[in-house]
Amino acid sequence: MNKLRFVHILLFTTAICFFLPPIAARGGHSDYIRPGPPQKTYSFYLSGDGSSSFQGTARNLFAQVEPRPSAELARGYMTNDDLEKAMKDFTKRCSKISRLYSIGKSVNGFPLWVIEISDRPGEIEAEPAFKYIGNVHGDEPVGRELLIRLANWICDNYKKDPLAQMIVENVHLHILPSLNPDAFTVRTRNNANNVDLNRDFPDQFFPLNEDLGLRQPETRAIMTWLMDTRFTASATLHGGALVANFPWDGTEDKRKYYYACPDDETFRFLARIYSKSHRNMSLSKEFEEGITNGASWYPIYGGMQDWNYIHGGCFELTLEISDNKWPKAAELPTIWDYNRKSMLNLVASLVKTGVHGRIFSLDQGKPLPGLVVVKGINYTVKAHQAYADYHRLLAPGRKYEVTASSPGYKPKTTTVWLGDDAVNVDFILIPEASSQGNLLRSICDCSGQPFLPQFFTVTNNGITFTLIVVVAFLCFLLQRRVRFNLLKQRQSSRRSTTV
Ligand SMILES: *[C@@H]1O[C@H](CO)[C@@H](O)[C@H](O)[C@H]1NC(C)=O
Ligand SMILES: *[C@@H]1O[C@H](CO)[C@@H](O)[C@H](O)[C@H]1NC(C)=O
Ligand SMILES: [Zn+2]
Repeated sequence: MNKLRFVHILLFTTAICFFLPPIAARGGHSDYIRPGPPQKTYSFYLSGDGSSSFQGTARNLFAQVEPRPSAELARGYMTNDDLEKAMKDFTKRCSKISRLYSIGKSVNGFPLWVIEISDRPGEIEAEPAFKYIGNVHGDEPVGRELLIRLANWICDNYKKDPLAQMIVENVHLHILPSLNPDAFTVRTRNNANNVDLNRDFPDQFFPLNEDLGLRQPETRAIMTWLMDTRFTASATLHGGALVANFPWDGTEDKRKYYYACPDDETFRFLARIYSKSHRNMSLSKEFEEGITNGASWYPIYGGMQDWNYIHGGCFELTLEISDNKWPKAAELPTIWDYNRKSMLNLVASLVKTGVHGRIFSLDQGKPLPGLVVVKGINYTVKAHQAYADYHRLLAPGRKYEVTASSPGYKPKTTTVWLGDDAVNVDFILIPEASSQGNLLRSICDCSGQPFLPQFFTVTNNGITFTLIVVVAFLCFLLQRRVRFNLLKQRQSSRRSTTV
């Protein structure tokens, strides 16, 4: 290699290092690079073929800059073995309301353990599910400590504390204290393959990480988990700041500005539930009310949060719970105390707020795995495949037009006034076209136009009248049966309607 060429390569490498995009962000207050003006240089990071190798290089270059915190920092924190033991002990002690399972393994083969808390753990019920994930970044260990405390607190209190009881009885709470056990051991951010797991998800704007084979085992575990389990909402715990962060995390043009997702209002509501219940998150000087839109703080790509909302049907927040990534272990009880109410309230919001219900067919009241949309919000919530329950989180204090639909059925729309409490709306859908029972169905279609008076004017003899009375009575019985079934299946005593 001649000297000139070598100098060129050197210059080129330096230039790239200089323009390196802020890939270390979200979860790192102290170590993120605030994005400057729009950077064209992102393109190298996104280049189609061969991008993976370049990405790897970028990550390696960056990782060399990252100082590794000393072992002294982790003094008093649970090791991975301690955590595993704590989780196993928990599910033994609280076996009535919990179970332990693994969603996969880390690069180095450590199981990614999850505790599920519910009065019927492991069973599928017509209830919303919530997940908490900690330690996505190996050097942000506070979340894993809080999550095991959360599990134990619920177990100790669900018979006396109304919030804990509500969670156990009406939610399936899944807790994954550590997504990145390998990196925790060596106190680094990235996993054992030196990849930032919070940049490893498919991105909505840029074809990052499109190759499934190149995705990290920890990322893949999360993605498979979401295919198997329907989650209504979730939160991931990070460290390095104190703020509740909500979608979108990235912008289309990589610039930094408030970029609202379709459910912006709902997300602001959820983020506020966390920050306002927290001892001092909402007092933040940097973030108004202690909440922030991700892209307005700093845009990231390939993050877990946006992917959850787009592909998982799951409303996810990214919670930064401690300015200091490694507070002294002696401070952990205080931090837990600061976060306890927030953590409980966020999970309970799945029951206490929003519009919930089930979708049924008028034929024998069979559950329909239909879709629920709200006028003005470009987002679809799916009812459960088997139970047809749906859970639509929405900001309170407004009227919403809610529509349920299912292929082969007439969609039904109803207006819901959503106050501070959750509302239950069950939909009974009428088959679109069917050879038999059309008369019965059209009379039964309470949302349809007045049918009977019109009928009277056309035929006005005694026989028809008797027939109509009989049919109407049958219809009444049928609807009553469907409603009665609904009532039996309904768990809570919230305000309910059937349409
Ligand atoms: C919240 O309290 C913690 C612990 O006392 C403190 O370190 C932090 O600065 C406080 N943050 C705000 C925004 O008040
Ligand atoms: C709704 O969102 C989808 C993506 O989820 C998008 O393709 C579509 O253009 C959006 N529609 C409107 C009217 O914004
Ligand atoms: Zn983080």
